[in-house]
Amino acid sequence: MGLKLPKVIGHRGACAYAPENTIESILTAADIGAEWVELDVMLTQDGVPIIFHDDTLDRTTNGSGNVAETPYATIRELEAGSWYADSFAGIKIPTLEEALEILIDKNLGLNLEIKPTPGRERETAESALDILSKYWDDHEHLLISSFQLSCLETAQDMAPDWYRGVLFDDDEDMPENLRDLFEYVDGATVNIGKKIVTRELVEDIIDFEKPVLVYTVNDAQLARQLQGWGVDAVFSDCPDVIAQNLLKVH
Ligand code: G3P
Ligand code: MG
Repeated sequence: MGLKLPKVIGHRGACAYAPENTIESILTAADIGAEWVELDVMLTQDGVPIIFHDDTLDRTTNGSGNVAETPYATIRELEAGSWYADSFAGIKIPTLEEALEILIDKNLGLNLEIKPTPGRERETAESALDILSKYWDDHEHLLISSFQLSCLETAQDMAPDWYRGVLFDDDEDMPENLRDLFEYVDGATVNIGKKIVTRELVEDIIDFEKPVLVYTVNDAQLARQLQGWGVDAVFSDCPDVIAQNLLKVH
């Protein structure tokens, strides 16, 4: 029993090879042998949890404007592949439900990152967890994470037994006492950005006796260095390349 993390988690699916956070990206991750993927979940204006990263639609779709101000009926008509490559033209933004069906079919583990628009933190976590609870029963292969403490608190209230990961991107985000925060949300993992990772920080977290995860690692040499420091898993856009280049023992 316990969280069954792999050494490499596909970031936004396998977004070096297919448009991020799409069904095609999840399928590609499965095809190249990833065991887990990380996906971002956000809410549309009318509260539908979708798999999407940015606050706005502009970068990765043919739409524009804020996701949080756009109803699902509009979002489902958008095209989310051409920005990446013509061969992906016509693909759609998946709902969380659609993504979960594929993940379960492909036997992939999931790190679901809850990305709320400001002011909708609890609602976003509640909606995502409501759907997850209908589909997902293998909690050894599920990690809920967020940069937002209130999303983790909501997850703790709704599903205390599901594993939670605390995310940090910047030094400014790091609390004075990381252990207190970690214990407060009863975290299972600490997930940190590579720009703030140091050997000292990794060793501090290892003292909590919980896994340390680092994102986003696309360089094999960095992956091996982190592995040598005791990092348990890395998120990568090209999980196959990183998995092939890790040291065999750890
Ligand atoms: O969960 C790890 C990583 O995905 C966090 O940053 O911006 O890629 O969602 P971002
Ligand atoms: Mg993410």
